Amino acid sequence: VPERKVAILGAAGGIGQPLALLMKLNPLVSSLSLFDIANTPGVAADVGHINTRSEVVGYMGDDELAKALEGADLVIIPAGVPRKPGMTRDDLFNINAGIVKNLCSAIAKYCPHALVNMISNPVNSTVPIAAEIFKKAGMYDEKKLFGVTTLDVVRAKTFYAGKANVPVAEVNVPVIGGHAGVTILPLFSQVTSLAQTVATPQANLSADVLTALTKRTQDGGTEVVEAKAGKGSATLSMAYAGALFADACLKGLNGVPDVVECSYVQSTITELPFFASKVRLGKNGVEEVLDLGPLSDFEKQGLEALKPELKSSIEKGVKFANQ
Ligand code: APR
Repeated sequence: VPERKVAILGAAGGIGQPLALLMKLNPLVSSLSLFDIANTPGVAADVGHINTRSEVVGYMGDDELAKALEGADLVIIPAGVPRKPGMTRDDLFNINAGIVKNLCSAIAKYCPHALVNMISNPVNSTVPIAAEIFKKAGMYDEKKLFGVTTLDVVRAKTFYAGKANVPVAEVNVPVIGGHAGVTILPLFSQVTSLAQTVATPQANLSADVLTALTKRTQDGGTEVVEAKAGKGSATLSMAYAGALFADACLKGLNGVPDVVECSYVQSTITELPFFASKVRLGKNGVEEVLDLGPLSDFEKQGLEALKPELKSSIEKGVKFANQ
């Protein structure tokens, strides 16, 4: 198994800590680098006592960012502030966009060949910000930049299995578009079993149920924000999803064939420059962006409906990066 260094930026946060734990359990990782502006020595000491393969090192503060990134094969970014009730999207945007901009400038400098998994929200904008920063630094490789939308897939699977009364671990649901509200479009017409043979339990679900499932998937983040009542947004499920996607990226890097996950990447699959869809992962990151497949009329409408918001979120990111 090749040596792989994984760096987590924002590793002491609500997402970062369980993500550090899950990456420590991943046998594909040989070196786990935990960076944050505070508290990483403690997290690293704690996680580092676990008797799995990787060596764990904590890095704290801007002075240690270079060391945290050097030699990284994969950088996962959950740094930022979470959405709280009453917080406007603009409040969140300005803080997180600034953090992402700085961290991406450092990635361009210290590990320009690493794959980057963006978790910091709003992902619809932070991924275009990263792309712009990388372009300015002259090292942008669109095959290596990913917005992590795996939590939308995880939620779609869970909610769907509950309604269709099928085993949750056997369902796969592609989710396309973006990573916020109506830009999230689960394709319940393309539910497959894990064996990739087409399952047809969706045939038993009424249009009303499919509409409700779509809405619940789109509002999944808000459901958690409201349930946490002022204490933040999804952390444990997001860490799980982030670890799942990172594992897929590492498998791709290691040459495992047919690793396909949905992710928000640069593509020409629609007229939008960034779009989440099924992506085949390989030794250089994105090997192939798979086409969307046949959509139901409901999904076709959803696709057209999401484009204006996704387009403006992308433009907002590009503008921020260049101002
Ligand atoms: N560099 C590194 N880490 C940073 C920086 C920075 N410049 N600024 C903040 N952080 C760290 C914080 O110190 C904290 O440990 O990011 C972590 C964020 O953790 P939480 O505040 O607990 O937030 P969390 O719930 O983990 O969400 C983080 O992920 O899904 C998104 O919307 C979510 O954008 C938010 C982010």
